[in-house]
Amino acid sequence: MKNILNILVSFFASLLTFFNVLDLPQDEDIEKSDEVVVNELLNTEESSIEDLEPEEVVAPSTSSSNWWEYPSDIQECTRDGNNLLVLVNKKYQLPSTYKPTDLVKASNSGIRKGENYYLRSIIIDDLRDLITDSKNDGIDLSIVSGYRSYNTQESTYNYWISYYNNCVSCTDKVSARAGHSQHQLGTTLDFSSNEIGDALGSQFGGTKASNWLVENAYKYGFVIGYPQGYESTTGYSYESWHYRYIGKSNALEQRSSGMILEMYLRSKN
Ligand code: DAL
Ligand code: ZN
Repeated sequence: MKNILNILVSFFASLLTFFNVLDLPQDEDIEKSDEVVVNELLNTEESSIEDLEPEEVVAPSTSSSNWWEYPSDIQECTRDGNNLLVLVNKKYQLPSTYKPTDLVKASNSGIRKGENYYLRSIIIDDLRDLITDSKNDGIDLSIVSGYRSYNTQESTYNYWISYYNNCVSCTDKVSARAGHSQHQLGTTLDFSSNEIGDALGSQFGGTKASNWLVENAYKYGFVIGYPQGYESTTGYSYESWHYRYIGKSNALEQRSSGMILEMYLRSKN
């Protein structure tokens, strides 16, 4: 039966070739119909009836599921950059031109160190209260990063690329590409403390200052951006030092919801 089929297929292929109907468009970008794909298979020397099984003509999937990777369908943020609840992540990016118009120096908050970083004025009063109350609880806090422009973020990302010897996956776990950083909002800052010599990084986790923030930051409108154990959701390694201001009532709602910041913002965008 199979032999008869093979003979029939060869016969019709020869006929088609003879009438010159197998000429294919040269433009590879043209989407080929199933019929054209079948004709191509018939026109190769190795082709047999088995070549026509569906799995032979289905294109391989190019999607990836590594948690640190950017999606292929990156889009512009759905809310304006000035909106405290705008979702900025690996999928949603800020325009390169976005810059807050109310930036002021962090010194306005009374912070001991990091006074020259810029932050939006809208967060200063609550940040001052946070610093005052933490001090009263015997906690020392400093600021080691604040607002970063699109261009500064580009340089920051490139710094990490070079630090990791051009390892893109290593860099994408710890640094946002330009347009994708919450630091461009002016409402995000990195904390440190004299407990670790005002260093920026993982040493901050487990300090008294970090523990105090975990318990209290939301009361002042600040929420940790990249919590431990949620790397596959946020797309970033745990950052004990990175906090974003979303306002007191929103932070309370976020905490009560049980969602991490990323999921809370997704629910609002
Ligand atoms: N380190 C965080 C992910 C940033 O670059 O914004
Ligand atoms: Zn940060």
